Amino acid sequence: MTETINRITDMANASDFELKHTPNIEITGSDDNATIRVSMGLQGIAHPQTEEHYIEWIRVLCDGTEIGRMDFAPSEAPVAEFKLDCSGKVVVAQALCNLHGIWEAQA
Ligand SMILES: [Fe+2]
Repeated sequence: MTETINRITDMANASDFELKHTPNIEITGSDDNATIRVSMGLQGIAHPQTEEHYIEWIRVLCDGTEIGRMDFAPSEAPVAEFKLDCSGKVVVAQALCNLHGIWEAQA
């Protein structure tokens, strides 16, 4: 089964629903020794983290290969940090909302 991957297609007209489900990617450090920090929501619009509605996991992929994943309980803040060595590769972060599926952003 292939899961649908949701993305914002029109950033200028993105809804709050789209913004809060989109991973926010920050990369610091040099190309060969970088850290990637992924939190939830663009433009300061945070996703809920409650028993009923929460982010189950965040993962990072380089050229389509998963390099790290963190799982979250409803009581945990959905922030993930990984070491990154993806020089010249496409870096993508994905997050799974228990109600609204997988959402993706490219670094
Ligand atoms: Fe959600």
